[in-house]
Order: sequence, then structure tokens, then C-alpha cells
Amino acid sequence: MELIDKLIKEIDKGLKFSLQNYQEQSREYPAKDIVEDSLNEIDRSISASLMRINHAGEVSAQGLYRGQALTARLEGTREKMDEAAKEELDHLAWCNKRLEELHEKPSVLNPLWYGLSFSMGAIAGLAGDKWSLGFVHETEEQVVRHLESHLDRLPKDDKKTAAILEQMAIDEAHHSEEALESGAAELPDNVKKLMGIIAKVMTKTSYHI
Ligand SMILES: [Fe+2]
Ligand SMILES: [Fe+2]
Repeated sequence: MELIDKLIKEIDKGLKFSLQNYQEQSREYPAKDIVEDSLNEIDRSISASLMRINHAGEVSAQGLYRGQALTARLEGTREKMDEAAKEELDHLAWCNKRLEELHEKPSVLNPLWYGLSFSMGAIAGLAGDKWSLGFVHETEEQVVRHLESHLDRLPKDDKKTAAILEQMAIDEAHHSEEALESGAAELPDNVKKLMGIIAKVMTKTSYHI
């Protein structure tokens, strides 16, 4: 019963993070002091599409961490996952705010990405803490590389989005490091490859819909 209660709460959270414009921030918006850029329509559209991908990524991060928090065995690890998920909430809030500023809607596929990430996180948690941490480490490594590529592709006048992505990249690198320090195992190459493929499908589709 307890597990079903927990699952229902998690589904409720998943729908909230996927579909609502969540904007509760515990840390300041990194773009708050930057004067609004006057982006032309082409630049706005590029930034908005990139931001929709990052938003989908942060929805997935919620799924991943919450899935792991549900099944991780060691209490210490569970707390770390919960803590990381809370930090990721700032990212989600910043992405929502920036999407709003760019007059763009989030990806319609977000509930799907949340569900998929939640399941993957829960499975990683069941596999044991060192694998679960290994999964976090690898995910965050891929996210850092992805954010860096977005910083390259971003229209150069869009200083606000750049400030957000830069702070997110710092945080994700920290999450990756923390997972490693907590005893992350190195994932097999095939698993890493599979994660990369799933991420590619997600980023390609979220750019458009
Ligand atoms: Fe994040
Ligand atoms: Fe992260």
C-alpha cells in the first residue's frame, strides 16, 4: 500500500512538472540583472527552440531523480537524490521563466519524457546505489556537454539565455562530481551509448514539438 501511495504522489508530481508552468525558485534567476535583449524573430525562434529542449531536459531530470529517490537503498543516497532533485527544480523554474519571456510553449512530449526518465531512474535505483550514482554521473556529464553545445549555438545577442545555461552547466558539473565522490560505478559503454541515443531522440523532437 505504501508503495502505491508513493507512486500516486509521484504521478501527481510528474504531471505538475510536465504540464504546469512551475516557477518557484530558491535561488535567484541568473538572467535577472541582464537588460532584456531585443532579439529579432529568427534569433528569438532559435533561442526558444533550444530553451524548449533544455526545459524538457529539466523535466526529465525531475523524473530521473525522483525515480531514483523512490528505489535507492542507502538512506544517504536517497537524501542526496532528493537534494539534487530540489536543485534541479531551480533549473526547471528558470527554464519556464525564460520560455515565457521568449513567448514559447514547452514541449508537448514532456509527460512522456518524465515517465520514461522516472522509470529509468527507478530501475537504476533498484540496480543498486553504485549503479544509480553511475547513472547520475553519466547523465550529468552528457548534460554538461549538451549545454556547452547550446551555448555555442545560441544567438550571440541572447545574453539572458546564456546566463541561465552557464549557471546550469556549473550546477550539473557539480552534480556529476558529487555522484562520483559518493561512489558512482562506471557504466558499461553500451548503456552510455543507449542513454546518448535516447537523449538525441528527446532533443531532436523537443526542438520542434
Ligand atoms: Fe538541471
Ligand atoms: Fe543536474
